[in-house]
Formats: sequence, C-alpha cells, structure tokens
Amino acid sequence: MTPPAIDYRDLQGVVRFGYKHLHAARYVLARVREREAARAWLREAPVTAAEYSLPPPDDALQVALTAPGLDALGVAAAVRDAFSPEFLSGMTDANRSRRLGDVGANDPASWQWGGASRAPHVLLMVFAHRGALDAVAARHTGSAFSQAFTITHTLETSDLDGVEPFGFADGISQPWIDWAQGTAPASRALDYSNLSALGEYVLGYPNEYAKCTDRPLVPADAASALLPDALDAPGQKDVGRNGSYLVFRQLGQDVRRFWQFVHGAAGGDLAAAERLAAVFVGRTRAGDPLVPLSARPVPGTPDEQAAQNHFTFDGDPRGVACPFGSHIRRSNPRNTDYPERPAGLTKLLAAFGASSKGFRDDLISAVRFHRILRRGREYGPPLDPADALAPASATEPERGLHFIALNANIGRQFEFLQNAWLANTTFADLRGETDPLIGTREPTPGCPASGAFTRPRHGAPADRVNGLPQFVTVKGGEYFFLPGLRALRYLAGGTS
Ligand code: HEM
Repeated sequence: MTPPAIDYRDLQGVVRFGYKHLHAARYVLARVREREAARAWLREAPVTAAEYSLPPPDDALQVALTAPGLDALGVAAAVRDAFSPEFLSGMTDANRSRRLGDVGANDPASWQWGGASRAPHVLLMVFAHRGALDAVAARHTGSAFSQAFTITHTLETSDLDGVEPFGFADGISQPWIDWAQGTAPASRALDYSNLSALGEYVLGYPNEYAKCTDRPLVPADAASALLPDALDAPGQKDVGRNGSYLVFRQLGQDVRRFWQFVHGAAGGDLAAAERLAAVFVGRTRAGDPLVPLSARPVPGTPDEQAAQNHFTFDGDPRGVACPFGSHIRRSNPRNTDYPERPAGLTKLLAAFGASSKGFRDDLISAVRFHRILRRGREYGPPLDPADALAPASATEPERGLHFIALNANIGRQFEFLQNAWLANTTFADLRGETDPLIGTREPTPGCPASGAFTRPRHGAPADRVNGLPQFVTVKGGEYFFLPGLRALRYLAGGTS
C-alpha cells in the first residue's frame, strides 16, 4: 500500500497547527434547526484548511459533527453506520461512562452539555487574535447560521499563556506526526519513539499497524465524485480521508482545592507544595520533566520537537524521580511503562501483545498504539498557588480545561488512555490510586478507596500521600467527527 501524499487543502487546520498564534478561541455548540438551511450552510462554510501560509491566517473556523448531527442532516444510514462504534454511541452510554470514570460527580446526568438527549449536532471552533474574536464569531454565526442552527452553548476560553489553570505549562508533549509518511511504523516497534504514523490521527492513511483505520467508504458515483479515492479499497470513495475523531471534554478544575490539598500534605510549606504538585504532574510548573533531559533527541524525534520533551524513563526504572502514578507517566509511559519491564525477546513479544504477562500489561507496553493529539484550551481566570490558599469567594469563577483530543480510533487511543492508564486503580502495580490530577476517587469493585499517590524512594519503603480529593470534574463532553473539507461538503449533500 503506497500512501498518498497528504492534501493539506482538504485537512482542517487545527489538526496540523493548533492555531497557537491565535490567542482567542470560542467553541459554539449548536443543533440543526432547519435541515436544508443547515446543509447549505455547511457546504459553504469557510473552513480553514491546513495549508501552510505566510503570514499565518488572522482567524480560523473549524467544523465538527456528532452522530446525532449526521442524522439531523439526513446522512444516509449506510454512510452513518460505517463510522466507528464509539462515535455512533456517543460519550455517555452507561458502560462507557463507567469505563471513562464518568460516575459520581462526573455523571453525565449533571453535565452542562452533551449526552444522549442534549447532544449538540455541530461544533464550531472559532480562533482569532485577541480583541477580534467577537467580530470573527459574529461573521460565522450571523443570520444564515441562525436560520440553519440553534446555538445551545457558547464555550469561552481564556489565554493563560500556555499554562493550564492549576498553573503548569501545558501542551508540551505531543506526538510528532509523520506527515511525510517516511518511516515504516515497524521500525519503531521496540523502543519509544515520539514519531507517530499519520494514520493514528488522520483517517485514510496507514496507522501504526500499517493499515487504514475503519471509516465509511462509499461506491464511486456522481454524488461521491468529489471525495478522495480510498487507499485500501479500489473503486471506493473515502468519506473518512483527511478527517479525524475529535474528543471534547469540558473538565472543571478546582484550583483552590488542588493547592490547598498539596499545601496541607506538604506541611504548610508552599515551596514543598509546589514540589509535591510537580510530582503529581511529572513536570515542574515551568514544564521541565523530573527526569534528566537526554543530550540527544529521543530517536525518531525531530530536532524541532520541544527541548523539554527529549526524555524517556530509562534512567528512572523504579519511578523515584517521576513516579509511575504521575499524570505524564500514566498518560504516556514512554518506554519504562511498568515496573518489571520485559527485556529482549519478551519485550519483542510484549510489543505485539503476546508475552506471558497479563493482557493489560501487554497492552500497556505498546505505547505507540495509544497516543493522542491534544488541541484543548483552558477557560477561566488565572489563580496563583499562593492566592488559591484563600477560601473561595461567593462568586468564584469557573476554571478548567476544554480538553480536545484528535485520534483515528477513539477506543484504542483516547478511551484506552482514559480507562487503562488514567482511571485504572491497578496501573503499573499501583493499588488504590488513580491519576492524581483527573482521577475520580469513587470506589470501584475491589477498590473501595482510590485517593492515594505513591512515591517510590531509593532504599526505603515508598512514601504514600493519602486522601486526595477529586480535583477535576467533567462538565460536558461529546465525540465529534472533524471531516476533511470535501467530506464535509459530501455529508451536507454537496456533489462538487
Ligand atoms: C483538567 C485536566 C487535565 C490537566 C490539568 C492536565 C494537565 C497536563 C499537564 C500539565 C501536562 C504536562 C505538559 C505537557 O506535556 O503538555 C499534561 C500532559 C499530558 N496529558 Fe494532561 N491534563 C488533563 C487532562 C488530560 C486528559 C483527560 C488526558 C487524556 C485522556 C490527558 C493526557 C495527557 C497526555 C497524553 C499528556 C502528555 C504526556 C507526555 O507525552 O509526556 N490529560 N497534562
């Protein structure tokens, strides 16, 4: 299978760029009000493509659809049903909620948006320079839009200058996408590499298994003529190509509770509290990893990759510097992903999911199949750790992260991370603890308490912090499809 070169004119720009130079962003959630008007609007929508331009664009519009949105647009059942099962069933079916940790305070019943009966149909992501956002958003959501759609929620973002609301530099580690598709995935089967196949994030191209992820293909006919050809199915047109699944979760962050807890656990010393918080994250607030940076980039990692990301956990096999339970080591275990890391042949087998260790460990060892591209933005005003020690005001503003992840396979990528790594109470031989930042502390079968955090020590029993409360609460969420520009026109009934 010779992969085609990517056509950036057909890819939504946020996949490639994230639009960091556009500091203002707003997410608009809407439902179809009048089908024909909605189809017409989507066919004409000035969606910004991923072509590189100098100077970069002054604003950008991106559009994504939910499965109920496809229904509302009247997309044919044969096309709709060929999207992935996770996308089709949405984020909130009961089993999925349990697996994602959407229980207790995170229960979709108390979300502000999303979920079966309140699912949005369409998501507009509007990016602009500071001060220009209202005008740009008004341009896109004027009378043609309001004839076609009813806005249900407008989600604002804030610009905390690359820092998430707890006060840590964010957006540092991203997979380095092999846009040129120049490196065979098998060459990175054994050691951690930050290089990741294009098909892990963009449908219609080979993924880390050197296969195209399932997506809707349709017979070539007059209606589908505008679509690209399917790479792996001669004669078929590809609805998925240049599209991606977009996971959106609104994660409320209780910044005061976070800093008050670590301050108390650190004996009332703010500097020690910052050190403990850094161990929860796995990086300092400035973004430096807790393990030494490699002198050379990690193999397969282009030099341009952020300097703060040149590290593996090779030199810290027991998690003394960066505990196994820290957020970054759970969400990307890199190479030392569990304490008794296999070597040699065992490692080779583990990479392909076939060692004699437990199935879960085998899966955990295959990190390259579980990466996501993060594109979220924070919301709410900044709050310094020292100020966060004061009690909340009567009019405490909401703070949090509009977490957005792009991936080709929601189950194998986002859901695996969330379930097997972050929400898992038995991750890496740890017991009774979940991710220190985003974990719920809800009892689960066989694990009545999960509010601990373990810090291994050299030559001494591990230190344990107990009683972590829940710092992050899910406020809304949905699975979207972020189509290629031609697929968007096709789904909206266009033929050219
Ligand atoms: C409010 C919730 C969250 C906060 C405050 C948060 C914060 C952070 C911070 C500070 C970093 C380190 C900086 C960086 O590498 O970008 C990070 C990394 C990361 N987070 Fe989160 N995060 C949150 C939710 C999530 C969720 C829900 C997931 C996935 C399901 C996730 C996955 C990741 C990944 C994959 C990394 C990069 C790890 C690496 O490659 O080293 N995060 N996060």
